[in-house]
Amino acid sequence: MASRRLLRAASAGDIDAVDALIREGADPGFQDRKGTTPLMLACEHGHVDVVRSLLAAGAPWNELDNEGHCAGEYASAGGHAELTDALIDHAVSAEMVLGAVSRARPREADLTYLSQPVRYDGDDKLLDTENDAVMMDWEAPLMRIHAQVMCAGKGDTLNVGFGMGIIDGYVVNENETRSHTIIEAHPDVHAHMLRRGWDAKRGVRVEFGRWQEVLDRIIRENESLPDGEKRLFDGVNFDTYGEDYDDLREFHALLPKIMRPGGVYTYFNGLAPDNIFFHTVYCRLAQAELASLGFDTKFDVVDIDTRDPEIWRGVKRRYWWGDKYFLPTCTLTGAAGSE
Ligand SMILES: C[S@@+](CC[C@H](N)C(=O)[O-])C[C@H]1O[C@@H](n2cnc3c(N)ncnc32)[C@H](O)[C@@H]1O
Repeated sequence: MASRRLLRAASAGDIDAVDALIREGADPGFQDRKGTTPLMLACEHGHVDVVRSLLAAGAPWNELDNEGHCAGEYASAGGHAELTDALIDHAVSAEMVLGAVSRARPREADLTYLSQPVRYDGDDKLLDTENDAVMMDWEAPLMRIHAQVMCAGKGDTLNVGFGMGIIDGYVVNENETRSHTIIEAHPDVHAHMLRRGWDAKRGVRVEFGRWQEVLDRIIRENESLPDGEKRLFDGVNFDTYGEDYDDLREFHALLPKIMRPGGVYTYFNGLAPDNIFFHTVYCRLAQAELASLGFDTKFDVVDIDTRDPEIWRGVKRRYWWGDKYFLPTCTLTGAAGSE
């Protein structure tokens, strides 16, 4: 069968056979019993021209074998760093095209998480109905530096997603700001905020609703206000739950409309945290898309340690395995209101 022969040719680096088999109709995304693809084998053995041919023929860069490994991991395990970089470049370009396509289509909001109750479990966890963690206090050191990043300009700050209010606590107690707005959509979290008096704190404004609706309103109201009175922010943090990269991308597209030039944006960088290759692709993708919106993005490496099993007691799924966190600092260098 042509697809099996393609596997062998890709592994051997026989570019002529690979090209001929693809022309004959062999499936470039074929997977054997172990889930291995021709792209994985070409990556493992460092056959650059075969990798290029397979990608051009539509081989998926993000397929996983039965053990959960992708082609990028085969390349780095084989010691082919340049190939890993080339795969990352390919993945970012492919995802940017897909992003442009998805932006053109209307998306339906997934309200599953927001329509079910959440509960605070002691002082260290916020859990959903499945006992999946919405927020945990091991993230506090990360929240502290996110707060420092968003408050660097000592101006008007916006945090999207209250959760346990850890970052908002750091903003209010350890940083100087002109004002601090918090957008929160979950009714149980909002009720908790009111019980804790967040709506009455000096300089704090609580906006109850999904950021999609709250920001839409702020942007519309701004349109009829003179420049000096528009509600714009100098520091923004984004950390929601139950949303995906398409939501983050949608949020990013709104930033130039709600931020002042020179303002700083940061987001909880937790996309695909258990696969360093996918995580890198997401970092680079966000960086490229933010660049097209006028942002200059850098990532600072922060050490974290989540090995203590006690941290995860009572939580259905451990969601963080690595010992490094890539803290994004995104500075708006383009003009506010630009696309
Ligand atoms: C991970 S927690 C935020 C944790 C927070 N950074 C802290 O320091 O505690 C995510 C929060 O985002 C809220 N959220 C989810 N979707 C939202 C949306 N579309 N708009 C606003 N808030 C949302 C959740 O209800 C939850 O409170």
